[in-house]
Amino acid sequence: MRTEQAVPVRLADYRPPDWLVETVDLDVSLDPTSTVVRARLRLKPNPLAPAPAPVILDGDELQLRVIKLDGEPLAADAYVATPDSLTIPQPPHRAFVLETETVLDPSANTKLMGLYRSGRTYTTQCEAEGFRRITYFPDRPDVMSVFTTRIEAEKAEAPVLLANGNLIDAGDIPGSTRRFATWHDPFPKPCYLFALVGGVLGVVEDTFTTMSGRKVALKIFVEPGKEARADYAMDALKRAMRWDERAFGREYDLDIFMIVAVSHFNMGAMENKGLNVFNDKAVLASHDTATDQDFGSVETIIAHEYFHNWTGNRITCRDWFQLCLKEGLTVFRDQEFTSDVRSRPVKRIADVRALRGHQFVEDAGPLAHAVRPEVYREISNFYTSTVYEKGAEVVRMLKTLLGPERFRAGMDLYFTRHDGRAATVDEFVACFADAANYDLTQFMLWYRQAGTPEIMAQGNHDADAKTYTLEISQTVPPTPGQLVKEPMTIPIAIGFLGPDGKERQVALAHGSKLANGVLTLTKAKERFVFAGLSERPVLSLNRGFSAPVKLTANLRDGDLAFLAAHDTDPFNRWQAVQTLATALLIDNVAAHRADRPKRAADELVHALGAVLEDRGLEPAFVAQAMTLPSEGDIAREIGHDVDPDAIFAARRALRAEVGRKLAEALADTYHRMVDDDPFSPDAASAGRRALKNVCLDLLATADPTAGIARADTQYRDADNMTDRIAALATLSHHQVPERRAAFDDFYRRYEGDALVIDKWFGLQAAIPESDTLGRVKSLTAHPVFSMSNPNRVRALIGNFAQANQTQFNRRDGEGYAFHADTMLALDAINPQVAARLMTAFRSWRALEPERRGKAEAALKRVAAGPSLSRDLQDIVTRTLGTG
Ligand code: PHE
Ligand code: ZN
Repeated sequence: MRTEQAVPVRLADYRPPDWLVETVDLDVSLDPTSTVVRARLRLKPNPLAPAPAPVILDGDELQLRVIKLDGEPLAADAYVATPDSLTIPQPPHRAFVLETETVLDPSANTKLMGLYRSGRTYTTQCEAEGFRRITYFPDRPDVMSVFTTRIEAEKAEAPVLLANGNLIDAGDIPGSTRRFATWHDPFPKPCYLFALVGGVLGVVEDTFTTMSGRKVALKIFVEPGKEARADYAMDALKRAMRWDERAFGREYDLDIFMIVAVSHFNMGAMENKGLNVFNDKAVLASHDTATDQDFGSVETIIAHEYFHNWTGNRITCRDWFQLCLKEGLTVFRDQEFTSDVRSRPVKRIADVRALRGHQFVEDAGPLAHAVRPEVYREISNFYTSTVYEKGAEVVRMLKTLLGPERFRAGMDLYFTRHDGRAATVDEFVACFADAANYDLTQFMLWYRQAGTPEIMAQGNHDADAKTYTLEISQTVPPTPGQLVKEPMTIPIAIGFLGPDGKERQVALAHGSKLANGVLTLTKAKERFVFAGLSERPVLSLNRGFSAPVKLTANLRDGDLAFLAAHDTDPFNRWQAVQTLATALLIDNVAAHRADRPKRAADELVHALGAVLEDRGLEPAFVAQAMTLPSEGDIAREIGHDVDPDAIFAARRALRAEVGRKLAEALADTYHRMVDDDPFSPDAASAGRRALKNVCLDLLATADPTAGIARADTQYRDADNMTDRIAALATLSHHQVPERRAAFDDFYRRYEGDALVIDKWFGLQAAIPESDTLGRVKSLTAHPVFSMSNPNRVRALIGNFAQANQTQFNRRDGEGYAFHADTMLALDAINPQVAARLMTAFRSWRALEPERRGKAEAALKRVAAGPSLSRDLQDIVTRTLGTG
């Protein structure tokens, strides 16, 4: 087999479809290796397209058995069928009915796209281009149809049969061991939102009464025996439904909403209309198997998929270049939900950490692309943090620029104007421009220009004039295919603190670009003069991370410590601590490499100590402040000639120093945060555990003997997974006998519980020691490891490549070589997951020369693989800069 040819798809080439599909009647007869799909499509010429045109339907590994047009078998010379397309060169110039019958083997489908089996459960995944693996169809989101789905299967094998919409009929098939169910979805939808499920499943049921008084049945289907672990997801679902009514006026529309948890899934979850399919990791949670982080992500993902019902399903995307239209917007909506039900500042800090840790890194490397890309070779590779997380930041900036009322008016207009249609990003933004009467022409650059804008701020106080002059310049760095950039519209939230630590009210001496504390930048270089400041203030810039930019400001010594102690914006208090720590770490990395003595951390320690002692702060916030920038954060800030070993050493030394110098306060906080109440997953309790466990780890780094004893005790006494796994993580960083014993104990306790054993794989893969690679290699032969389960692969291989900076980036190149071999092997099983994990190489050019050479060699070896998938081929050539 040869590598598949990847034809680039371009936004500029968009044309409306020639044919529309009004209705789809599917009849799927499930069988483990030979499932028969009968499809009846009512096709009609698109009035918008220049007629007459051939009918060209997409397929992927399909096998055609029967084809009929208006009930008559089609002559062999009237169509051309291949595994990946079905063409009727001369169809009638009118509406007609096309019937096809295809067969497929769900058990052989390890790509997990189309119809496949997860264990014994039949399930589907159609986004983005999986429906064509089920039947021949115009597989593009601007073709919206009404689906009716009849499914039949062996009663014993699949007593539960589900599809989109409402159940209209079900029963046994007389004279056989089979059963059927028929579902009808009245809402026209693109085929990527199609789903069906069949299997032996347990269910948790509830109801929800919508704001207009309609009663909706809620059902979550899980592996039998796991029902109790779905209670939290059900609770989160009801809270999300209520929140969308209150925050956006959006109500659910079908009589039933179903979620199915499966254990083989390429992503987190999928928003199929009325029938969300979830990775079981994103549904199942109980105190003894899931961490607080797991509970949080279940809540977020449940909400995210539910919110798609309006942003994605009712209003879908015209084409896949518009992916951020549904994803960026829906991430924004789930972020707002979490901010409202948990802590807004803590959520913002966590989101910005993730944005910098993933999106900024992507934006700074060879895979950089715009929020709305203009060309792709494989759309599956564009489900990225740029499309999702930066896409959400762009929506957030709209809200910041317009204010909450005008933002809501724009959303309302979007919902009324585009309901039931496939829309574009331009149409979305036009709703805000129209509702708010605001020119968003320049703002559109956020969708077109890749790269993270860099802002330089120079502030000067003039005591005599009582003014403060702020000069701000912006640049956007070049990215692949985009060498020259234009200045952007950038909303910068800003504040001034007086020497007393109190907020100062200011006015712009002239100009009107300051509204609600937000300065709107539009030019490469601008100057703002603020009046009414007799004493030198300390400037707080980009409050709440109002724009996703990199910021450099000419602060004086002491300003950051001052902001860390006094800023009224909690995000910038946290940011000040991070900026202090980052500067120190960068210096100390350089010192480490030059064998110079490192700089002491007194100023940082003082700032951290003050935060730790401030009882007015919520524990979750303190935990975030006490968490130093990650190795990845430091590497990103250094940006070139990166030596991961030096970064690790500097960071570890700093953690030990902080732990030592704040030992008493940390120990005291640790004890204060211990909860005697029974476990509750709520945000406040989770925050206490987070802070307790940050203290545990800092103390153990500073004083391993006492720290290991404390961690060992916590490990054994823990009554919840958060505390147990945190203790195990702490132990995992120390070469002591307690470590092996705890890992063995953990395995014995949770043997048979795949999601928990994933944590066991993950922690071992992340140990920053040289024998980790050997251990990871032998764990790939562990009986519960499997290359065909994405969760297992991500736990072991993903954690090694993404969470273990020193060992993936081993100086001898063995980490890269292992990863390359693994990705080549995985590609033959699951190309999407291989392509995604291959992005671990995305920062290779920033490495010091020796490692860079080794990484390049590994990349080239993958590129030369004999039969690469389009997915992996696309990532590897773009990463090398040859694609
Ligand atoms: N659309 C899904 C989401 O964001 C993600 C997804 C994409 C899932 C592609 C599967 C395949 O909620
Ligand atoms: Zn989504």
